[in-house]
Amino acid sequence: MKNFILYNPVRVIFGNGESNNVADYVKGLGKKAMIISYEGHDFLNVLLDRVQTSLAANGIETVPFYRIQANPLLCHIREAVEICRAENVDFCIAVGGGSVMDSTKAIAAGVTYPHDLWKMFISRHDCEVAIPPMETLPTVMIPTLPATSSEMNCIAVATNDVTKEKAYIFCPTLYPKISIIDPALTCSLPTFQTVIGAVDAMSHVLEAYLNGDQNSPLQDRLHEGLLVTIMDELRKILKDPTSVEHRANMQWAATLAWNGYIQSGLDAPTPMHQMGHVLSARYNTPHGVTLAIFMDSYFRYCNGNKNRTRRIDRSPNERCRTISYRQNSFEILSYPLRVYSFFWFFITLRRFYKKIRGEFSPRT
Ligand SMILES: [Fe+2]
Repeated sequence: MKNFILYNPVRVIFGNGESNNVADYVKGLGKKAMIISYEGHDFLNVLLDRVQTSLAANGIETVPFYRIQANPLLCHIREAVEICRAENVDFCIAVGGGSVMDSTKAIAAGVTYPHDLWKMFISRHDCEVAIPPMETLPTVMIPTLPATSSEMNCIAVATNDVTKEKAYIFCPTLYPKISIIDPALTCSLPTFQTVIGAVDAMSHVLEAYLNGDQNSPLQDRLHEGLLVTIMDELRKILKDPTSVEHRANMQWAATLAWNGYIQSGLDAPTPMHQMGHVLSARYNTPHGVTLAIFMDSYFRYCNGNKNRTRRIDRSPNERCRTISYRQNSFEILSYPLRVYSFFWFFITLRRFYKKIRGEFSPRT
């Protein structure tokens, strides 16, 4: 195991129905909150109304910003930052999945950021050194999709709509103040979102497991436990989507998959994510789908490297060994995963073809 520093100050409130008590938990954070959610947020109307009503009843004014899209754009983050500044907002509340939570972190950090917001982001193509945000407004997360673990990490990913780069902020300042994880909110998730969320969480576990330090048996067992839990619970959820019990297990597993605990000491790169970000930035392909597209090929690539796959083979967890690429299993995910990734693979190819044709067609 390599040396590491672990710091995670997020106050997690986990339980069915806890999103009803948001006003109790945010006391002391301020008198005015921006509520951030998706554009076309109809499916969240009831929840958003409930949050707003509860805050109003406790004397907290709210400023809605419902413009975030999947694969969030820098232009919307800029817009929200300007509103926060004009309205003197004290804190930000995210109601949604990873895109909304990531945007909320960037917005909260952007309010007092003295430079251009894009300078916060690392992994930009211009290779300039990022200037991390030194402070942020407090943020509160109410996740509605188990996937990214954004509710308990200090990462925010966004796409620059001008340069078409997907880059991220990684800075301890960004840790949410409070995360209210209410699994009951996920019971109405459609199959598509449920599956690609699970693929994202699995990828977070697998990338560190396959690429990280090889002498970390405790971390291996933690990874295997999460992997098997995500696979088993997904199978159960697909059979019984309204089961709060299985949704709760899935949501906690997804939170732990990328909150820094299991990655400690592994120092692992994330190749599938980095390749996937390019597809998302260029063709707006959903994050989980980009991972599904790459996952099978990446496993085949790892097949040529015994160091990477040795972990799976020597795992004492029999269920974990069944994910071996050689047995070509992924049996739980196989049907929805392949259907969706196949579908999106062709959409992505079509967009790529259109772009090439547009770029090389003679100009009039
Ligand atoms: Fe991810």
